[in-house]
Amino acid sequence: MSNGAQRFSASAPGKVNLHLGVGEARSDGYHDLVSVFQAVDRRETVTLVVQDAPPVSTGSVVTGMTTTFGVRCPEEHIDAPFNLAWRAVDAVVDEYRRSGAEVVTALPPVHIEVDKQVFVAGGMAGGSADAAAALVAADAYLAEFAGSELGRDTLHRLAAQLGADVPFSLMGGTALGTGRGDELVEMLTRGSTHWVFLNPKVGIPTGQAFGLLDDLRHNDPALVPRLGTATVARALTRGDAHELGRAMHNDLEAAATTMRPILVEILAFAGALPGVARSMVSGSGPTIALLCRDAAAAEQVLGQVRERYPDYESFGATGPSPGAQAAQ
Ligand code: C5P
Repeated sequence: MSNGAQRFSASAPGKVNLHLGVGEARSDGYHDLVSVFQAVDRRETVTLVVQDAPPVSTGSVVTGMTTTFGVRCPEEHIDAPFNLAWRAVDAVVDEYRRSGAEVVTALPPVHIEVDKQVFVAGGMAGGSADAAAALVAADAYLAEFAGSELGRDTLHRLAAQLGADVPFSLMGGTALGTGRGDELVEMLTRGSTHWVFLNPKVGIPTGQAFGLLDDLRHNDPALVPRLGTATVARALTRGDAHELGRAMHNDLEAAATTMRPILVEILAFAGALPGVARSMVSGSGPTIALLCRDAAAAEQVLGQVRERYPDYESFGATGPSPGAQAAQ
């Protein structure tokens, strides 16, 4: 890549579910959710690097992709056209070409760089954050080379097509999500939340976790969907970590702990640490989210968790954090 190449960067947050109620399976393979999302300041950065090559009018403008890992690198190769960041850039360019602009400008090719700080396949929507950041970076690139951008509403529609969590990664903050989790309403919060995230080395494919929950519910009538969010909403407006900790709930935790029993032990150990208001599986897991009393407690908890589980990845983060936005 030549020095001085034009670059379009954006960052987007990882997320934790403060509440995840899973309803009925739908005919489209998804489940209806009632989710309270919170974005945290552990952020992915996506950069489009303009290539010194002839502009293209058809097909993908993406020539390739390079991910740099601040977390463990997955075994499989992810710098490929199926990657959500790559698909997000293609979606923005396709939308522009379909948009009815009288003259569709040929666009210069780009190489995508991803700085990955959120766990891969961890239940923190890291891949969705890559997609959201790529949407915003690609819109800035369009503004420069096509002279018009798609704007936030269109990006939100494209986000929902890319995946159920992508709209929230775009929006950030704290939000109630219904439908597949992609119909969002902002929620009121007071103050900040302080977290430690711990990722044991056990993968949980999201689709399998949802499927197992359906199976478990067949045999255990106690596993009813918990769809109410009033207590979480109240705790958020009060800004009290312990009240929020008591209100947090995740229907998918039963599936995650059944698939990976080691999580039960980690949840119990971490939940008993001084300064931890709640330990819970994040989304479909396997990441364990530890809500801490305050910033000082989170720092101590991170140290204790690293000492007990030196082979697992962990980091601290604070919420809420803004959604996808342009970066330098
Ligand atoms: O949207 P995403 O590709 O991240 O979802 C992965 C899988 O998780 C889906 O294919 C589906 O099996 C499951 N899922 C679901 N209901 C949701 C979100 C995801 O069943 N609301």
